[in-house]
Amino acid sequence: MATYFSYPDVSLQEELKRTAEAIVTPGKGILAVDETNDGIGKLLASVGLNNSDENRRKYRQLVFTTNNLSEHVSAVILFDETVHQKTDDGRTFVEVLQKNNIIPGIKVDRDVVDLFLSADEVSTQGLDDLAKRCSDYKKLGCRFAKWRCPLKISEHTPSVRAINDTAQILARYASVCQSQGLVPIVEPDVLLDGDHDIERTQKVTEVVLATVYKALLDHHVFLEGTLLKPNMVTPGKECKKRSTAQEIAVATVTAFRRTIPAAVPGIAFLSGGQSEEEATLNLNAINQVKLYKPWALTFSYGRALQASVWKTWAGKPQNVPKAQLELLKRAKANGLASLGRYEAGSITTAAGDKSNFSTNHKY
Ligand code: 13P
Repeated sequence: MATYFSYPDVSLQEELKRTAEAIVTPGKGILAVDETNDGIGKLLASVGLNNSDENRRKYRQLVFTTNNLSEHVSAVILFDETVHQKTDDGRTFVEVLQKNNIIPGIKVDRDVVDLFLSADEVSTQGLDDLAKRCSDYKKLGCRFAKWRCPLKISEHTPSVRAINDTAQILARYASVCQSQGLVPIVEPDVLLDGDHDIERTQKVTEVVLATVYKALLDHHVFLEGTLLKPNMVTPGKECKKRSTAQEIAVATVTAFRRTIPAAVPGIAFLSGGQSEEEATLNLNAINQVKLYKPWALTFSYGRALQASVWKTWAGKPQNVPKAQLELLKRAKANGLASLGRYEAGSITTAAGDKSNFSTNHKY
């Protein structure tokens, strides 16, 4: 019978740990291509294409068939539809990724609903049938999952209620994933929206992470078989006082050292609306901070890896090779940054410095 000190059995622990460690292989990170159909619809509209199954498939085919993507990308996060889609020549996307030594993972949250009687706060859905879905995805070849809970900073938020809700939901999700052999990527996302300063973001991030890790332990989550996907500690988008990459790096690493257990093998950041180059420079500075950091610190970017790909592809078949090159360049820049070896401006891509921020961004 399971007791208060229970953990998954040893062979499951080993499998989860191996997967988590493989995802944070030095010099590699995660490509998040798990935009919802609405989310990718906006991107398709920006290149003049309809939001059809076929156009979504075409874009994702471009991404997954990029040669040598695995040099700097260890894993890809998919959206449900994509797990079932195939290339023009009939191979499933999952097979293509596996063949290229890239670990497929899956977004399993079902987005947010309003938190009743709150100041515009939200709660993430999807727990009800989660074990069944995880088991199905595992059979289809996925080895990890992702679940995002956004929290907004404003005068009175995030509330204690929203923070506790986030922590409990993430812990429940992580426990269900592990029960089915998937590594949970735990994503509490303190949003960039707002005019708060970096000190406020740091304190909020510390409280959120401390609450999340207490809940993970309470739910017997095996930390060695998890990964964290957090925000970086930056000033709010509208804050007048800007911070350098070095200041962001010190604030981020300081917050993490205070709250994230050393048993967690890796931390893979979301980009949250930063420009491609900014996300790379901040990651690089974080890896250069001269403080002891027991975890791998890498990327799990969506917008900051794909903005140039969209711009270069522009929805035209003849641009596919050029767009794939942009993806490879950005992946290389971030791979170097994950080792603290990126030089500012040394790799340029089409969207480079352009902000990817939009208020209340929907994935
Ligand atoms: P961004 O890097 O665009 O923030 O997306 C990462 C992600 O997967 C958020 O859930």
